Amino acid sequence: MRYVVSGAAGFIGSHLCDRLIAEGHSVLALDNCITGSMRNVCHLEGHPRFEFRECDVTKPFETDGAVDAVWHLASLASPKDYLAHPIETLESGAQGTQLMLDLARRHEAPFLLASTSECYGDPAVHPQVETYWGNVNPVGPRSCYDESKRYAEAVTMAFHRVYGVNTHIARIFNTYGPRMQLHDGRVVPAFLDQALRGEPITVFGSGAQTRSFCYVSDLVEGLSRLFHSTEHYPVNLGNPREMTILEFAEHIRVLTGSNAPLEFLPLPEDDPRQRQPDITKARRLLNWEPRVTLEEGLRHTVEYFRGRIEGGPSKPA
Ligand SMILES: NC(=O)c1ccc[n+]([C@@H]2O[C@H](COP(=O)([O-])OP(=O)(O)OC[C@H]3O[C@@H](n4cnc5c(N)ncnc54)[C@H](O)[C@@H]3O)[C@@H](O)[C@H]2O)c1
Repeated sequence: MRYVVSGAAGFIGSHLCDRLIAEGHSVLALDNCITGSMRNVCHLEGHPRFEFRECDVTKPFETDGAVDAVWHLASLASPKDYLAHPIETLESGAQGTQLMLDLARRHEAPFLLASTSECYGDPAVHPQVETYWGNVNPVGPRSCYDESKRYAEAVTMAFHRVYGVNTHIARIFNTYGPRMQLHDGRVVPAFLDQALRGEPITVFGSGAQTRSFCYVSDLVEGLSRLFHSTEHYPVNLGNPREMTILEFAEHIRVLTGSNAPLEFLPLPEDDPRQRQPDITKARRLLNWEPRVTLEEGLRHTVEYFRGRIEGGPSKPA
């Protein structure tokens, strides 16, 4: 099978490419590298079943040859990146999703959208279940991301209803692991970078806001199961183990052996106070739940970031 993956040079996209190649598929990897890096896929370069094409998926693009599935992951994904590039973020959710759906439609191929828990905004329902419609500020600074994904979900459902495209929507909650960018502002790389350098760990607000963290191999397994399912409505994929940011900072200090102090900064606008997936649907439909403990996942991630900070990992992560 020949699979098209957009956002392939990104954190999750590159792990997905590894998985698809290991399963014996061919991969046409698309990325404009706005936030991704060739470093994430350099170990696949020269592989006979891996082809990388530098391409902006918000502009019409050519794909020669067979297309047996379309995985759409291309998007600005961290608050720091999407706040710096709001227009590009909206475009990747809107035009990008539509062009990738068109590709799937032309080839009668299944399509998977990497959506996000940000569709729930600052949720008034806890934990977040797929039937909850969310609490999103449509004009706040984060709206470029939240609304781009909400539009992406809407256009995906429209292509399913109108053209019969076999679509799937993954609502991904905080995912972490090797190949995250060091300075994209997301909490895992930020805390690890600070702890490993012995710099103060910067906590926004009081640190009482909660998050739950899913290791990337668990997430990729969930994406794969969803892709092979018959479900067209959104499915939450994430780790239901919820903790406060303060607890998480403590985990990082213990694992890195750091005694870096905490530094408290103002909470960013519209920062969600609580974030925990209800994964009942994924358990029931996909027989999926995360397997990797936080301690184990963080150990792999710490090893990777140590390598990056000390001059780049010697082997693919
Ligand atoms: N990591 C998470 O915790 C998380 C949570 C929720 C949703 N997601 C979603 O999963 C997907 C992957 O996220 P990630 O964490 O790997 O982020 P990432 O930034 O590492 O990867 C995104 C990739 O998309 C590429 N890209 C962006 N716009 C593009 C365009 N117009 N054309 C081609 N390529 C483009 C970037 O260069 C990057 O390589 C995103 O759609 C994101 O919204 C991730």
